[in-house]
Amino acid sequence: MTELGQDLITITQRPDIVFAQGQGSWLIDESGKRYLDLIQGWAVNSLGHSPEVLAQALSEQARRLTNPSPAFYNRPMLDLAKRLVDLSCFDRVFLGSSGTEANEAAVKLARRWGQKQRQGAHEIIGFEGGFHGRSLAMMSASGKPGWDRIYPPMPTGFPKARLNDIESVARAITPSSVAVMIEFVQGEAGVNLADPGFVRELRALTEERQLLLIADEVQTGIGRCGHAFAYEMYGIEPDLLTLAKGIGGGAPLSALLCKERFNCFEPGDQGGTFCGNPLMAALGLAVLNEVCQTEFLAAVRQRSRYLAAGLQRLVKTHGLLGERGAGLLRALVLPGNHAEQVVSAARNLAPTGLLLNAPRPHLLRLMPALNITEAEIDQGLDLLGQALRETAIYMSKPSAFTGGSA
Ligand SMILES: Cc1ncc(COP(=O)(O)O)c(C=O)c1O
Repeated sequence: MTELGQDLITITQRPDIVFAQGQGSWLIDESGKRYLDLIQGWAVNSLGHSPEVLAQALSEQARRLTNPSPAFYNRPMLDLAKRLVDLSCFDRVFLGSSGTEANEAAVKLARRWGQKQRQGAHEIIGFEGGFHGRSLAMMSASGKPGWDRIYPPMPTGFPKARLNDIESVARAITPSSVAVMIEFVQGEAGVNLADPGFVRELRALTEERQLLLIADEVQTGIGRCGHAFAYEMYGIEPDLLTLAKGIGGGAPLSALLCKERFNCFEPGDQGGTFCGNPLMAALGLAVLNEVCQTEFLAAVRQRSRYLAAGLQRLVKTHGLLGERGAGLLRALVLPGNHAEQVVSAARNLAPTGLLLNAPRPHLLRLMPALNITEAEIDQGLDLLGQALRETAIYMSKPSAFTGGSA
């Protein structure tokens, strides 16, 4: 008998479901069961599954030019860079394929600047709980508990401070510090928001101590928080910023943005086979053309308020601990470590399942498509309520729970 996934290297525990099709906020598996998707590829499908604008952009570009090599310019690469510059406070763009790659590029650029301008300063101060990717260096840059013990020895030069504790940042600064790297909303750690006052103090401190402020907006950027970029919520400008996830609308595209004065790579310092490839750049342009419109972003903020109000009702009804988030990156805090059970119960609901994510044992994360409708939000809240009710029954009889875990 063949086992599902037996030819794949095991990297995670997947449920026995094979997805066959997606449309907007919906996924359909090979048995025909429909799921309302509040994960959306981990916050990547900004416009939901298989939107027509992306299908068109991809097929047109695939017919015209797929990859002339990163050693040459191509039109979508130039247009996407210009669009990002026009939309943001930044002057220059490097295009890559993943958030990890963009963050590695940010760290390399900061270290290069440190060599040239700060006598070799190279340490990047990160935050406890932070998540910046899965290369060895980005695992070191992340503040995920236990990540220093999986693949030792780990790259060094990534001390940690505590989010919303400016004194801890000040204490972490040494003559070797060159940058502070922050997620304004720590997604993987449980949708932890940086306080506006802390971010303003951090900007002032980094300026005073000649440190770069690197914003990792891989998860928060491109409309996810109701603005083109999350830094806009804080009224400050970072020096470097990274994007991935939402900018590709589901495809592997990422970007590093920097101010002109930090544009200090020498030719050959940075690159990669897929950097600035026209297929992905064409998708990025199509996403930005939709998402970064004033009316679209205002609608994301309205949907965010609608979803937050519904989640607060669930908090009251089910005795949960709270709801928080920014835009359409939201979390529901449970009274105990039952998030995986709720995820399984929601997925197993019939005839319609609900897809949720549990980044922490006591916390559910919701990252719907940015164009989810209010009717779909209502349906999602209804399904989530059912899953919470079922889980409450299972929790009182733990042995009765048979659902698999995500
Ligand atoms: C804030 C943040 N940075 C970086 C990454 C890594 O991005 P990728 O998985 O595309 O390499 C993630 C992924 O979840 C993320 O949330």
